[in-house]
Amino acid sequence: MYPQFPPGFRFGMSTSAYQIEGAADAGGKGPSIWDTFTARPGAVRHGQDARVASDHYHRYASDVDLIAEAGVHDYRFSFSWPRVLAGDLDFYDRLVDRLLASGVRPVPTLYHWDLPQELEDAGGWMNRDTAHRLADHASALVLRLGDRVRDWITMNEMNVHTLYGYALADHAPARGLGLGALPAAHHQLLAHGLAVQVLRTHGAGSIGVAQQHFPVTAASDDPADVEAAAIFSALTNWTFSDPILLGDYPDELIRAGVGVPEAQLDRDLELIRARLDFYGVNYYEPTMIEAPKAGKDYSGVLEVDIPADMPFSPVPVKSDERTDFGWAVVPAGLTDILVTLRDRYPDLPPVIITENGASFHDSPPGPDGRVHDERRISYLDAHLRAVSDAITAGVRVDGYYVWSAIDNFEWAAGYDERFGLIYVDFSTLERTKKDSWFWYRDLIAAQPRN
Ligand code: FCB
Repeated sequence: MYPQFPPGFRFGMSTSAYQIEGAADAGGKGPSIWDTFTARPGAVRHGQDARVASDHYHRYASDVDLIAEAGVHDYRFSFSWPRVLAGDLDFYDRLVDRLLASGVRPVPTLYHWDLPQELEDAGGWMNRDTAHRLADHASALVLRLGDRVRDWITMNEMNVHTLYGYALADHAPARGLGLGALPAAHHQLLAHGLAVQVLRTHGAGSIGVAQQHFPVTAASDDPADVEAAAIFSALTNWTFSDPILLGDYPDELIRAGVGVPEAQLDRDLELIRARLDFYGVNYYEPTMIEAPKAGKDYSGVLEVDIPADMPFSPVPVKSDERTDFGWAVVPAGLTDILVTLRDRYPDLPPVIITENGASFHDSPPGPDGRVHDERRISYLDAHLRAVSDAITAGVRVDGYYVWSAIDNFEWAAGYDERFGLIYVDFSTLERTKKDSWFWYRDLIAAQPRN
């Protein structure tokens, strides 16, 4: 029996430009910060890069066919900002047309981490002007595609981009600024606000944002651990959602840390809190935090290590099951974060789960031509049931998108981590539907429709 969802619930699949497109220099496209980062020895596992990635730029038509055949309603992808800057909008024109002709609704994200290197050279997200450049990017796209694209997502996971790329140095642009990275958070939020304004002005039908959220629990009820967990959650969850959904930062210190004069900040927050039509939640795993204990080694707990001088330390989440990426499998964390968001934000718009999925190191197709990925099926099944539990608890959730449609370049982890419903042989670029693709197709077909 498949989990059941209300009539009209939207099923989809997600990807991002840098992770799948390849075609690194096509049409005069310049480098993004990820092209620079991947070229640095030791930055990415096995020294891999995304110059070819899944070669989706050249194979988009057959990829869209594979996506559409599963019966999904929506396909979430992102625009490569450097490609758009180079004026190569034809690719997205063709992609959108192909999706629409196949009966799939395009749900593009304006920005999914691939900042043009030329903007990074001018200060990147630490420079306020980058927010205005994102608004120009939004404008170019809505003018070109707004006659066919109804649903838009502004930014992807501003928190992960800020934490991994600006506070730490594990992702591009590898700045390692610690708490000094807060201006990068504010400028992305401002970019979001400006983009909403541009999209609305041009008549966009439905606008949202994709945010990674996770429950943060304290390792014990010791007040020091509880306090450490609250600080971590404020920095990684609420700093990015309170401005959008409440119009302010969660804490005076964070408000001061973004480095914008008070009067200007109030004007920025007015923009940032613009009404949204949906709120995208990306969910992978919860986090457990304790107050740092002197002499204890915390390395290797999260995918990235938090510096020892921070007032919080991650400890392993208790879970019997982990993905091959080492991420804890905790479906109840998804119900938990959805209920928490609903309780924290009285005006929470309808939620769409804009990403959820798991990396398993799938074997290539066997003699039967199939890729057997039962663990991914059980992961997706359990998380869809967790969404259904949140709906029962009164949270309005309108859709669910699997990360990812297709195996791709998993940032600093390269190609070992496979999240796709479609298997890619990275030496031949041949595609094979995994068993999870067939399962997802059947689950969608088994839903009541209105
Ligand atoms: C999210 C990213 C997405 C993908 C998944 C696994 O944090 O938004 O691009 O890498 O993780």
